[in-house]
Parts: sequence; structure tokens; C-alpha cells
Amino acid sequence: TMNDKAIVDEEGKRMRDAMNDSVTLERAGRIGLIRIDHPPVNALAGPVRTGLRTAVDRLAAEAVPGGTAAGGLAAVVVYAAGRTFVAGGDIAEFDDPDYDITHLLDTLARLEGLALPVVAALHGSVLGGGLEIAMACHYRVAQAGTRLGQPEVRLGLLPGAGGTQRLPRLVGAGRALEMMLDGQPIGTDEALRLGLIDAVTDGDPRTAALAYAENLLAQGAGPRRSAERPVMVTAGAGAGNEAAAAATEVADFFARRRTALAARAAVYPALPRIVDAVEAGCTQGFAAGLAVETQAFQACLRAPQSQAMRALFFAEREAAKLPGLPADVALRPIRRVGVVGAGTMGGGIAMNFANAGIPVVLVDTSAEALARGLDIVRRNYQASAARGKLDVAEVERRMACLHGTLALADLGDCDLVIEAVFENMALKLQVCAQLGEVCRPGAIIATNTSTLDMDALARASGRAGDFVGMHFFSPANVMRLLEVVRGAHTAPEVLATVVRLARTIGKVAVVSGVCYGFIGNRMLESYLRESEFLLLEGASPARIDAAIQSLGLPMGPCRMLDMAGLDVAAKVVIEHLKAGGLPPDPSYRAAVQRMFALGRFGQKTGAGYYRYDGRTPLPDPEVADICRALAAEHGIAQRDDIGDDEIIERCLYPLINEGARILEEGIAYRPGDIDVVWTCGYGFPDHRGGPMHMADRLGAAHIVRRLEHYARQRGNPHGYWDRSALLARLAEHGGRLADFRGA
Ligand code: 3HC
Ligand code: NAI
Repeated sequence: TMNDKAIVDEEGKRMRDAMNDSVTLERAGRIGLIRIDHPPVNALAGPVRTGLRTAVDRLAAEAVPGGTAAGGLAAVVVYAAGRTFVAGGDIAEFDDPDYDITHLLDTLARLEGLALPVVAALHGSVLGGGLEIAMACHYRVAQAGTRLGQPEVRLGLLPGAGGTQRLPRLVGAGRALEMMLDGQPIGTDEALRLGLIDAVTDGDPRTAALAYAENLLAQGAGPRRSAERPVMVTAGAGAGNEAAAAATEVADFFARRRTALAARAAVYPALPRIVDAVEAGCTQGFAAGLAVETQAFQACLRAPQSQAMRALFFAEREAAKLPGLPADVALRPIRRVGVVGAGTMGGGIAMNFANAGIPVVLVDTSAEALARGLDIVRRNYQASAARGKLDVAEVERRMACLHGTLALADLGDCDLVIEAVFENMALKLQVCAQLGEVCRPGAIIATNTSTLDMDALARASGRAGDFVGMHFFSPANVMRLLEVVRGAHTAPEVLATVVRLARTIGKVAVVSGVCYGFIGNRMLESYLRESEFLLLEGASPARIDAAIQSLGLPMGPCRMLDMAGLDVAAKVVIEHLKAGGLPPDPSYRAAVQRMFALGRFGQKTGAGYYRYDGRTPLPDPEVADICRALAAEHGIAQRDDIGDDEIIERCLYPLINEGARILEEGIAYRPGDIDVVWTCGYGFPDHRGGPMHMADRLGAAHIVRRLEHYARQRGNPHGYWDRSALLARLAEHGGRLADFRGA
């Protein structure tokens, strides 16, 4: 019955029939197989969707329940080639204004409607539309280690191919909601326990699914459709045709979920819509629930929040690609890592490698400093263990990866050494020179400096080709961002090795050129400059922070510096001033310097821009007095008409302007890299996509107009409001920052 393209294998048994390049029908005895092959992750791109439809329709035509001697099919297996089952819808297609989910929905309805038992053979990442295909199958067999989930919410979306309906029917509404609202995939153990899968195999999933199907046939089992199951809402309280008491219980259940999400619903519109779709499916049945899901999915797809989050998905992956890098560049193996300085950063940095099972040699100058550093690491791990996030045995395994020493010479067999000693140029020059000598040839030497001239440190090492910046963010074991700093002479394979290593330790790497503050802190500087001017002009810390937080940042500038330490922040300004890097403006960041002088170091001393009751920031009238006095000293007029819009524009537009300069100068490769820095390193809200994405939404012309407005209003003797050439050009000729490539 197969057409002319059908292929018979050597044994004359299995036949293959390509629907197109991505989907093939195979045959193993009386079982038909749909094979999906669309590298790298079998995403549901157009050809996969059309191929799937053709295959399902063909199977429907050939179905003969129970099979026949003449070759009718008795069961179906769906599997995928390559490293994973289907990892979801093709995110790149979602920008297409004509993207329509209903064709896929219909295909899945037909798949589920087949009169034969259909078994999904799962491996790798069964995510989003991938899990939705699996749930439209009647039975699921997964290879051990498979991850299953509905991560759409992380893209600002909800499941759109029936997930909001089938998942609750398989695992219960409560767990289904959790899975869809946090987007976190689950493993095969839990999936089996929940009934999301029926069997786990250590072997090849296709083979296991064929055996499972034969077994079903032997037992005379038929289709078992997810859509036809009832939904369990709470223990004992099913939905649908329940008694009146159960109906109120169900309504209550969903009302509670909605209340819990209310605060985040405005910026993540997919969240309440997930609840809506599940509730509709529970109370009005599968078809009605599906209709709610489809409508919500299409709406979220076009919402700016999802567009921003999708752009970030690709930006994070693109950031690891190094333009101009020869394709055949050989990476250096990193089997052992050295960290110099067991302080705040050194300890956190070491943890990243220990977590990945990479042995670390940790060096400090005294036994006390070393012991203190290792003790903090241990307590960190123990805290994770206490929260149930880490196995107790795993704490010891990780600690065993850390070897403390006082001798730099012990770094001789490390493949990478990262220095994280005090931020002091003379000390760092000396340490880097020593590392140049003790490290073996071919080892990579890295600095964690935030502000010092990395090329000078590279020269001091005597091995500038092996030298690179690895700028971790505090706390280094938590923050996902790693700025990888490319020095004037950093060898391409050194850069590539470190970017690759970042992935191994769960970081997102962004490459920056050498400049003061690199990408993130350089942009932060203009943001802090304006927030401090606003303080002098009479805006309270609480006022400034509230305006910034209204954008979705977790904290405003004042609260952030109070946490980081105003002493640390002030010293950076003072050093920068000494080095001649600041404009000749005595009012420049005067606020932080005065706070430092007054011993107001922030949360750790109980007072900074706020005063603290434990960790709770409270407004402090003394700060208003300090700012008033500073304003008078610097001849700055205080006003009481500073609104949220002004605070947001003045803090953010100079930051965006600086980002545009960073692009022009080639410090960052791409605008998306800057957005990744801000979302992964500074808490910039993902639903705004980062400062460059946000700038494109506002339009360069608007930003330039506002920069010009503040230049007029505030005066511009120090060039604070000078427009970058790139923004000025885009404002004049149109175009988006997102399209900027290469200086
Ligand atoms: N669509 C398009 N491209 C995708 C993709 C997807 N769903 N998932 C991964 N890719 C691409 C990546 O961009 C990358 O491309 P590149 O090589 O050109 O940079 C390549 O596949 C490999 O991806 P990773 O580098 O991320 O590979 P990993 O092995 O580290 O991770 C993964 C694999 C866990 C599958 C990870 O890629 C991932 O989480 N993907 C997204 C999963 C997801 O969000 N699925 C839901 C999509 S929305 C949906 O399904 C809607 C539905 O309800 C209709
Ligand atoms: P820290 O003061 O907590 O730790 C420095 C450690 O280095 C101390 O344990 C000290 O004993 C040790 N040390 C000093 N001289 C040494 C030497 N010659 N050999 C071996 N060890 C030596 O400092 P922190 O905060 O960890 O900063 C370290 C580096 O990380 C600095 O360059 C800093 O700019 C950078 N950084 C800090 C961030 C932060 O938020 N704290 C963020 C990003 C980078």
C-alpha cells in the first residue's frame, strides 16, 4: 500500500516512506512508525507539521485494528531521530504574523483519534509542543533521563497545542498548573509516578516502544485517549459533571491560583491565561478548554512580553557565537582550575567548578583566609542541603573537589587559573606576573577584575595570548552572567575555550572588549550618575526606586547600592577619579561619596540610602537632609515636581545611549549581547527584553528627542546628554538597534 518511494530494508521487513525531508513513515511488522528528523532539536517547523499531518492521515487510512495478514497496521509508534524527541514549537517561526496553531492542533486530534493504540517513544527534551505530541499519543515510553515539561511560560506563552487540556487530564490540575506556571521540566521518575509516562527504558526508546506496542496488542489493549479522561482537580473532587459542592470547591481552587498570580499577571499575561484555560477545560470540557487555550496562545504570541522573551532566548544562544572565529579552532581542555583569592568572589567562583565536578586549587595568603573562604563555601552548600536542594553526600563530594593551599606553585598543573585578589592594581600586577611563571605552558590565565585595565594585567603575565577576563557577578555561584573580556592579544581559542567552559558551569557568557566597566558596569555608571543627581534635586531614594521598580526591575538603584555596599561603590568612584576617568564635575556621584564619608555603608551598617530594620529598608529623613546640604554645596536647585517618567527617562535613556556607544566601539558584538548582560546580570526584566530591545520598542527618535530635552533642561557642560552617533543615525534614518551588526 506504500507508494513508489517506499523502501524495503535488507530483511524485507521494515519499509520507509518519506513524507518529506523531516517526517518518514516506517513499518516494523504490523506496527507503523512515524519518525521525526529535523535537527538540531526536532522543533515543530513547517515541514515537521505538514509531514506529521500527512503521516497521520496515511496511518488512518491503513489502520486495521488488530492487524491483518494482508499487512494492515495494528499499532503506531511516534519517535524522533537525533539527540532528542521534539523540543517544542519552532520559536523562530513565532514572529511570522501568519503563524497559526490550529493546523497542529487538528493534526494532534487526528493522531489521538486513530483507532489503533499509539505509543510515543521519548528521549532527550520532551518540551512544549513535544510533550503535547506525546500526550496526544495513547501511551508513553521514555528513556531514563528524559526531561518532560511545558516551558512555554518562559517565552511569555502558554502551551498552545492542547497542553493546558491534556496535561491536567494526565497528572491532575494541581500538578499540571505548577508545571505550566513555573515551566520547570520534570524527570522520568516523577513523570512515571504522576502517570505522565507509562514506562521507562534504559535502552533505545524506539525499540522499547515497539515492544510496548506488541505487548499492548498481545493484551488486546486499544487506544487510550488523554482527551477522554476526566480531570482530577483536588483529591476526590473531580470536575465536570460533579455535584454542586464539588463545583464550588473547583471554583475555589482556581480562584486561589489566580490570587496568588495577581501581582505578576500584568507583566506575564500568560500566567492567568494558563489558569483560565485549565479551568475552562475542567468545568466546560475538553473542546471548550481548547478554544480558550487557542485564543490565549494567539494573543500571547503577539504580546510584546513574549516577543521580548523570545528575542532573549535566541540572544542568549547567539552570545556564545564568536564572529570571525575560525571554524576549526581547537578548544583547550579544562580539567583542573586554580582560583587565587578565597574571598567573596573567589569562593563563589570555585563553587561553580566544584558543582560541575571540576577539581579546584584555591590559593590565599594565610591559613585563616583560606579556612574562612572554605568555611563559607561549606555553609553555602549546607544551606542548599537544608533546603532540600542538595544531597548531603553531594555536599561532601563538592567539598572534596576543593583543595586549599598557600603556595602559588601548586597551580602548576591547572589548565585555567582565575585571580580574584583585592581590586588593587599593584597587587594584581604582581599576582599576574607570578602566574605567568607558575602556570604551565598552554594554561589560561584569567582575571576577575571589575575596573582595572585588563591589558596591563595581560602584559604583566608575560603571556597576553593566554590571558582573558572572566568577570563573574556577585554572588558568583548564583548569578548566571559571565562577562568574558577579550584583551588586545587574547588568542581566539582561549576566548572560545572560556565561552564554552561558561556553558559547562551553567553560565551565560557574553564577550566584551576592554573598556572601563566592560559592558554592564559601564552602562550602570550613567544610570547611577543620574539617580544620584535626582537625589540631590530632591527625589527620595524610595521615590527613585519605586519608579525604576515599576519597570519590573527587582530593585532600584538606591536599594541596590545599599545591598552591594556604599563603601564598595564609593571606592570605585574615588579610584576612577584618581585615574582621571571622570568629568571635572565636583557634583558627579557626590551622594555616594558623602554616604561613604559618613559611614553609611548600606544594609551592612544599618544605614545607607535607607535605614534598616533587619533587612527591611525604611525611609530615613536624615538622607533628605544630607542631600539638601549637598545640593546647596553644589548649587543644585531642589524641586518637588520630579515625576516617575522623568526618573525612568533620566536613569534609563543615558544607559541605553551608552549601550549604543558600546556597539559603535565594537566593545559588544551585538545588541542582543547587551540585553543578555542586563537580564542575566542586573535583573533587567526579561519581559522587556533588555535595554536595547526596550530602546527599539520606544524608537531611537523618541530617545534622542528626550536626550535633547534633558540637555536643554539640565544643561550639558560635561556631555552627559550627548547622543551617540548610532542612536542619532537611527533617529534620523529609521531602523532598529537590533539590526546593528559589527563596528
Ligand atoms: N525552536 C527553535 N529553535 C530551537 C528550539 C525551538 N523550540 N529549541 C532549541 N532551538 C535551537 C537553538 O536556538 C540552538 O540553535 P543554534 O545551534 O543555531 O544556536 C539549537 O536549537 C540548540 O539549542 P541549545 O543550544 O539550547 O541546545 P541544548 O542542548 O543546550 O538545549 C533544549 C536543548 C533543552 C531543547 C533547549 O534548546 C531548549 O530549552 N529549547 C527550548 C524549549 C522550549 O521552550 N520549547 C517550547 C517552545 S514553544 C512551544 O512549544 C509552543 C507549543 O505549545 C505549541
Ligand atoms: P575579597 O576582599 O572578598 O577577597 C580577596 C581575597 O584575596 C582575600 O581572601 C585575600 O586574602 C586574598 N588575597 C589578597 N592578596 C592575595 C595574594 N597575593 N594571593 C592570594 N590571595 C590573596 O574581594 P572580592 O570582593 O572577592 O573581590 C575580588 C576580585 O573580584 C576583585 O578584583 C573585585 O573587583 C572582583 N569582583 C568583585 C565583585 C564583588 O561584588 N565583590 C564583583 C565582580 C568582581
